[in-house]
Amino acid sequence: MSMKPQMKTNIGRINFIQPLDPMLSPERFDPVKVVPLMPNFGARIEGLDLREAISEAVKAKLREAFLRFGVLFFSDQERLSEDKQIEVTRIFGAPDEGSPFIPKRAKNVDVLITDASNPPYANLWHSDNSGLPHASFGTLIQIQECPPVGGNTAWCSTQKAYECLSDHMKRCLEGLVAIHYWDKRGQESMTSTVSYDDDDSYYGRYFEYLKKFPPQKHPVVRTHPITGRKSIFVNEVFTTFIEGLHTYESQGILAFLYNWLHIPEFQLFHHWQRNDVAVWDNISMVHYALGDYQEHRVNQRVEFAIDPELSYAAEAAFSNEA
Ligand SMILES: [Fe+2]
Repeated sequence: MSMKPQMKTNIGRINFIQPLDPMLSPERFDPVKVVPLMPNFGARIEGLDLREAISEAVKAKLREAFLRFGVLFFSDQERLSEDKQIEVTRIFGAPDEGSPFIPKRAKNVDVLITDASNPPYANLWHSDNSGLPHASFGTLIQIQECPPVGGNTAWCSTQKAYECLSDHMKRCLEGLVAIHYWDKRGQESMTSTVSYDDDDSYYGRYFEYLKKFPPQKHPVVRTHPITGRKSIFVNEVFTTFIEGLHTYESQGILAFLYNWLHIPEFQLFHHWQRNDVAVWDNISMVHYALGDYQEHRVNQRVEFAIDPELSYAAEAAFSNEA
C-alpha cells in the first residue's frame, strides 16, 4: 500500500503576486523619468534638480506619480533651503504645521537631528500624525546629513497589503473604526518640549495638548480621498484600539494587521545618500526609520495636507478606474 501523502487542495495563499498596473508604466509619466522600484508601488525620479524651476506640466506628472506609486525618491540633489523645500512640497499639497512635538527650523519646516546624544526613535511603523486632528496627507523630507551606513528608511504599501488580503478578511474589517492617539506610548512625545523639573508645568502642558489634540477616529480600511483605493489604516505608534470590540478582539485584529504589514513583499527600503529627497502618501503607506546608527543625521521635513486649490491632475482618471 502506498504511503504517499495525498495532494492537498487547499494549502492557502503563499504568494503576493499582483498583475502590474498599466497605469504605472514609466512611459505614461513622460517627460518625467520614472523608475519603478517594487511591483505597483515606489518609484525613483531621475534627471530632476528640485532647486530648478519646474513647469506646471511636470508638476502634474509628479503629482500623479506620487499618488500612484505612494512614495517617490529624488537622488543627486543639492541641499534645499527651507523656502525651497516648502515650494517643492506645494507640488504635492499644502504644507501644514506638522507635529507640535518636533523642533522647527522655519514655519512648517521640521528638523530632526539624531546622533549618539539623541539616538533615533522613529523605528516603529507609522503614518505621520495619524493621532492628531490634522493627520498628514503626505510628508516630504530631505536627509541633509546621513551616516555612512545605517539609518535607512523603510516604507510599506498599506494599499497593496490591503489588496492582498483574502476576501474573508476584507469583509471582517469592513466598517471597523480605530482610535488613534498621539501619546499612545505614554508621554514620550512630551519629553522634548517639557522639563521634568516642574511637575505642575508638565501636566498643565500635557492636558493642554490633550484638549487641543483629542484622540482621533479613522476607518481601519481607509478609502483614499483622491484615488478611491483602499488601504489598511492602523499603525503601531498611534492606533490604540478598535471601537466596539472586546479588548482581546481588538488586540488580536491589530496584532494580525501589524504582522501583515511586516510582510516584505509590501515593503521597500531606501539607503540614503546625502540630500536625497523622498515624498510619500501617508494614507497608502506607513514608514519606519531604522534605528541602527549613532552618527550625525539631519532630516529636514515638511508635512502637508491635501490642497483643495491644487488640481490633482489624475483625479478624474482615478474615479473612472474605480
Ligand atoms: Fe514619520
